[in-house]
Amino acid sequence: MPGAREVFVIKHIYALGGAGLLLSTSMLAVLAQTAPSTPPAPPQFDAQQIPTFVGVDDILEFKALPEYHEPDFVKAFVDAGKLPPVAERLPAEPMVYKTANMPDGVGVYGDVIRHVIGGRPEGWNYSAGQTQGWGGIDIGLSECLTRTGPLFQVRAEELAPLPNLAKSWEWSEDGHELTMHLVEGAKWSDGDPFDAGDIMFYWNDVILDPQVTPLNGASPETFGAGTTLEAIDPYTIKWTFKDVRPTQYLYAMAYGNFCPGPSHILKTEHPKYKDGATYDQFKNAFPPEFLNMPVMGAWVPVEYRADDIIAMRRNPYYWKVDENGNQLPYLDEAHYRLSTWADRDVQAVAGSGDLSNLEQPESFVEALRRSAEDTAPARLAFGARTISYSIYPNLSANGWGEPDERGQAVRELNRDLNFRKAVSFGLNRQALGEALVRGPFTTPYAGGLMPPTSYYDNDSTVYYPYSADDAKALLEEAGLVDTDGNGFVNFPANVAGGADVQITLLGTSDYQTDKSLAEGVVAQMEAIGLRILLQSQAGNQRDANEASGKFDWSLRRVDAELITVVQNTQNLAPTGPQIARGHRAGTDGNLDLLPFEQEMVDTVNAFVATADADERIALMKTYQKLYTDNVYAIGLTQYPGALIINKRFANVPEGTPILQFNWAEDGLIRERLYVPEDQQSSAELFPDTLPGAPGVGNGPVTSN
Ligand code: GLA
Repeated sequence: MPGAREVFVIKHIYALGGAGLLLSTSMLAVLAQTAPSTPPAPPQFDAQQIPTFVGVDDILEFKALPEYHEPDFVKAFVDAGKLPPVAERLPAEPMVYKTANMPDGVGVYGDVIRHVIGGRPEGWNYSAGQTQGWGGIDIGLSECLTRTGPLFQVRAEELAPLPNLAKSWEWSEDGHELTMHLVEGAKWSDGDPFDAGDIMFYWNDVILDPQVTPLNGASPETFGAGTTLEAIDPYTIKWTFKDVRPTQYLYAMAYGNFCPGPSHILKTEHPKYKDGATYDQFKNAFPPEFLNMPVMGAWVPVEYRADDIIAMRRNPYYWKVDENGNQLPYLDEAHYRLSTWADRDVQAVAGSGDLSNLEQPESFVEALRRSAEDTAPARLAFGARTISYSIYPNLSANGWGEPDERGQAVRELNRDLNFRKAVSFGLNRQALGEALVRGPFTTPYAGGLMPPTSYYDNDSTVYYPYSADDAKALLEEAGLVDTDGNGFVNFPANVAGGADVQITLLGTSDYQTDKSLAEGVVAQMEAIGLRILLQSQAGNQRDANEASGKFDWSLRRVDAELITVVQNTQNLAPTGPQIARGHRAGTDGNLDLLPFEQEMVDTVNAFVATADADERIALMKTYQKLYTDNVYAIGLTQYPGALIINKRFANVPEGTPILQFNWAEDGLIRERLYVPEDQQSSAELFPDTLPGAPGVGNGPVTSN
């Protein structure tokens, strides 16, 4: 019995009768379609450092210590009556980092960590979706209910999120309720108490308010459809889930989905509490010039100079200590130089910056060469291939992003499997990777789960190898023919006036890698007759357009859930109306899932609902098959990144990956980093100061 494809070809042979000769090449191509395979074996490239694996309890605990210490200059604030004593600023039981898990042990105070970032701050309202410029700045400002960055060093058998603002939790007998205990007596950096009021503001007025979306996009479904949250008392909250013991929502409570903002400040501008305020005003009420914004993180922004720097001073109320009772962080200051991502690599290698996630392959060779020199100020270590890029076709045909006629026609194409396969066949991934860097770094990426994941299964991964002939034949099957002979396929006559198919490819100009890949894709698509228009935008602009559905295809670095599976599991498929990058609800609130997407959703939900290890492995095989067979997103290339960090820092955990459960800026546990006295720099911009009162025009203050 002929398959659908053969029937299609046969019908066309008859229908086109005399034109058979003209068609014969494409017919042959269709008949000879290259069989999909599994991805080619990647070139050997071993991670250069292996973590020292430990259990969660080996890293930290919460307990009262007999005495607490602070830097001398902070003590001067206390002596001057400007700050309560350190013991009163700390919670009853602060978080205590265990010395045995600190690579270099208890540290000393002083010095600065100098970051360089390519992003720009929109403002401090993380809760309303403003970016602070990425590169670890918001990761450092935001503390979340749980924490995952350091989990790269946790033994697989004991893998569970670290406690953080939630210091402990327990499940009810029936497994539907999760009671969490918050750190008791912790304070925001301005001294205001942190408690369940902050949690409930975040839940009710950020997550549940459809007009507010926090940075990184958390929505109610991030914590499971139908989930509720209530405060029991100021330090106890209770979750109720539909599923039984859905432990992986504990991962969703980490960065960047459950990091509450200071409700005592945010409430003053939120439309629910401020008469006449609009949501737009709320979002923009805390611009970068608003300094000393209260945070739970280790450093507080005290200075902002546009396109130059954000400087931060230590949070005198930080609620974490070492085993000797020294209040953390050890580093008194943190800088975020507002430059470019490429400059982050250059400066880290040269020693004028302290840290970089070397993630743009264009810089690999030079960075490796410089770091190999004896006098190199920074160490560089490559990890596993956890950086991947994909194209996300916009799969919403429901009006999301309000497409015009052409845009709508492209979405219908995106929803056609033949079309997605054509694009996949049309990509020469080997060439895309090699254009970034030569050598054993890059390897073709089929999309879906990444090989460093324990859930990855090569046999369940469908790979459409490069074949321009197959691509062209499939475009034709999708109804796209070059009717005007200009080299580009046209829509059928009754769609968008039969015009050339034009597809916009949204990407960011912030990274050379994103630009190089996008340009490569445009050229490769042109070769199969698809006209792609590059929309290369500054990161903030791109993010806004992507989140509001204003794109045909979006090219981006893929998110961490495809590396960990257990983290942000909900984001693996369009499990909610606002979850997936490429498929969200239209104005009527409905998703128009394709059958295979529904199967992906069911698979992900089944994964969430079971704790059975074998079942979970099987479900992820199904997931991977669905994703790659159906080309849910179009994988491009994958490669390893390297962490570059200045040699003067102590307590850098071995084998910190630049990206696994979170970015290295979280994995490194920056509040524990220190610089031995004899190596301290004199780079502090605001020595002996602490954050002043929150507000525009306020900066750091001295003790006298
Ligand atoms: C940007 C950078 C990453 C990392 C993250 C942290 O995306 O490219 O290397 O620093 O910010 O959010």
